[in-house]
Amino acid sequence: MRMYDLIMKKRNGGTLSREEIEYMIAEYTAEHIPDYQMSAMMMAIYFQGMSAEETVALTMAMAHSGDMMDLSGISGVKVDKHSTGGVGDKTSIALTPMVAACGVKIAKMSGRGLGHTGGTIDKLESFAGFTTGIDAGHFVRQVNEIGVSIMGQTADIAPADKKLYALRDVTATVDNMSLIASSIMSKKLASGADAIVLDVKTGSGAFMKKEQDAFALAKEMVTLGNMAGRKTIAVVSDMDQPLGRAVGNALEVMEAIATLRGEGPEDFTRLCMTLGTYMLVAGGAASDEEEARARLNRVIEDGSALKKLAEFVEAQGGNPAAVYDTALLPAASIVEDIDSVQDGYVCHIDCDEIGICSLLLGGGRETKESVIDLSVGLVLHKKVGDAVRTGEALATIYANDRNKLNAAKERFLRAYHFADDPVAADSLIKGIVRE
Ligand code: URA
Repeated sequence: MRMYDLIMKKRNGGTLSREEIEYMIAEYTAEHIPDYQMSAMMMAIYFQGMSAEETVALTMAMAHSGDMMDLSGISGVKVDKHSTGGVGDKTSIALTPMVAACGVKIAKMSGRGLGHTGGTIDKLESFAGFTTGIDAGHFVRQVNEIGVSIMGQTADIAPADKKLYALRDVTATVDNMSLIASSIMSKKLASGADAIVLDVKTGSGAFMKKEQDAFALAKEMVTLGNMAGRKTIAVVSDMDQPLGRAVGNALEVMEAIATLRGEGPEDFTRLCMTLGTYMLVAGGAASDEEEARARLNRVIEDGSALKKLAEFVEAQGGNPAAVYDTALLPAASIVEDIDSVQDGYVCHIDCDEIGICSLLLGGGRETKESVIDLSVGLVLHKKVGDAVRTGEALATIYANDRNKLNAAKERFLRAYHFADDPVAADSLIKGIVRE
């Protein structure tokens, strides 16, 4: 077999066999296939798509490209959660301690930023010293001791996805249904949890812009998970505007902390409650959704979810004091408002553009080697449906470089659209996909 022939086959609209996909993944993982050939293959898949059979084969080949994690050393049901990626999506940082504080074991594997979207690992690194580079032994021990751990993808777990994820991030090949489904599900299957709750985003800030594509992706992933014996459920949620108000690594951590204090934005809090409800039921900590909601509310009110975040940060080398004093998180040197240049009602926000503004400020990667600036980003003061007057602040921008700030500000103003009459925001939860 030759990679050249496989690229040509896919470029011409052919269907790759299971053997061909297994060959490609094994050889790429072993570094026998160079990035430039795999980039060409990703672009061919992007344009030609993959059949359901090809997607299953790709998922399984990537899941088995390294070790399959054994979580049998952790008692009880282990639950994982994953988002398809969005702007301002800091859900895991608030949600995992909430759910762990309710007694469900969270064994989660997370990723870094991808395209215009942020990543949980980058955000968590806002806690000085925090690392997700822990080994399987540490991971299992920590879940047993405090009920929650988030690890990064090690070289041993789904290494093919790890390499492809970084490659797709910088080659404009992220937003393809089969590539997203196989990327997410390969690492979810390899990382060993018993139940998986997926948050599938749709809208201008998501990789799946159209709702029907998001539902199709959700169905594909739920099928893949259940086929592999994992109880999988997907929530399809809105990403037509940033989630919450903060966009940017440390700023999002601050918003997640505020949410654990019961002071978070309404939409973000509601999404955490919805996903948390399914996680509690899947993990056996609540018999129905009503009981689950009551338990989640209780751990916010009594402070135990916030305390769980501090325990989790400390267990992975981070400074837990920053959970109680967010002035200890990275801070930008320039803080300025972006004022509206017109009156009206915000009727649409080009959500991916807001993600790109954060990236332009230094909060995301331009190349695989980029080092990100954790302190930069935006906090939105106006969202869809809000009335605005000329001169009123649409957002506050956090930067460390005047030129980058100017570029981001210009782009930000172009991303906001106004109407003369009041408009209603889209519903946050679009639907639930079960087996
Ligand atoms: N999240 C992933 O892990 N992979 C993707 O391809 C997209 C989002």
